[in-house]
Order: sequence, then C-alpha cells, then structure tokens
Amino acid sequence: MADKDLNKLFHETLKDIYYAERKILKALPKMARGAQDPKLKAAFEKHKDETEGQIERLQQVFELIGKRPQGKTCDAIEGIISEGEEILDEFKGEPALDAGLVAAAQAVEHYEIARYGTLKTWAQSLGLNEAVTLIDQTLAEEKKTDADLSKLGETAANLKAKKAA
Ligand SMILES: [Fe+2]
Repeated sequence: MADKDLNKLFHETLKDIYYAERKILKALPKMARGAQDPKLKAAFEKHKDETEGQIERLQQVFELIGKRPQGKTCDAIEGIISEGEEILDEFKGEPALDAGLVAAAQAVEHYEIARYGTLKTWAQSLGLNEAVTLIDQTLAEEKKTDADLSKLGETAANLKAKKAA
C-alpha cells in the first residue's frame, strides 16, 4: 500500500476513535451512577479521568500529523453504548445490573483496544514515532482497565447475579 493511502487511513481511524472517546467520556458518569458495587463505581470514575487524558493524547497525535482534532461519527461505539444504556434501564435495581455493566464496559474496551492496536501498527509503519509512544500509553491504560473489569466481573458482579438466579 502506498504511504499516502496509509496516511489517509490513519487519519480517518484517528477521527473514529476521537469521536468514540468523547462519547465514552459522556457515558462513563452514567455507568458510575448506575453501578451498585462501590469498586465498580470507582473503576468507572477512574476510567473517566483516564479518558480525559486519552482525548488529550489524541489531540497531540492530530497535531503531529498536521491536522486539527476532528471526530467522525462512529456507528460501532454508538451501538455499543446504546446496549449499555439498555442494560442500565432494563436491569435497574436488579442484582445482575453490575454484571451487565461490566460486560458493556468490556465491549467498549475491546473496541478501543482493537482501534489503538491498529493505529499503533500504522503509526510504526508511517514512522510516526512520537505518535506510537502516545498511542501505546493509551493502549496500556485500556488493557489495564479491561483486566480490572474482568476481575470485577468474576467476583462481585457475577457472584451477585448468580446468587439471585
Ligand atoms: Fe479510551
């Protein structure tokens, strides 16, 4: 593939994840309010703060490629977040709510990990070393969040859901 095409793909995908991160930033306080387990609440709040930093890093990457930060509607994240909102509505007050919220949040994380993994590979190919470093920092945060959510899902949330079943 010619470098010009990969540059365009990189830019388009950057716009996609920039849009997604800003949607996630808005969704996380709702998920934190909904969560029953204080640990899960705290995890969502922590990730909200991290997300603010991730958005700043994306702005830096835009700058590195000489573009202004701009989002492009990402249908995938719209769908994933809608599913999370459905869980918040349908399982309100139910013991399985937290398990559902963990699952919804992990779907978000996996989407982000896929996108950042791709962006990192492309940044490497394009020789955008500073961008690689920035993307890698965010990728590490997303993976850590995913691992923390797995633990929360296995213990409190899933146990509570099971007991009530
Ligand atoms: Fe993120």
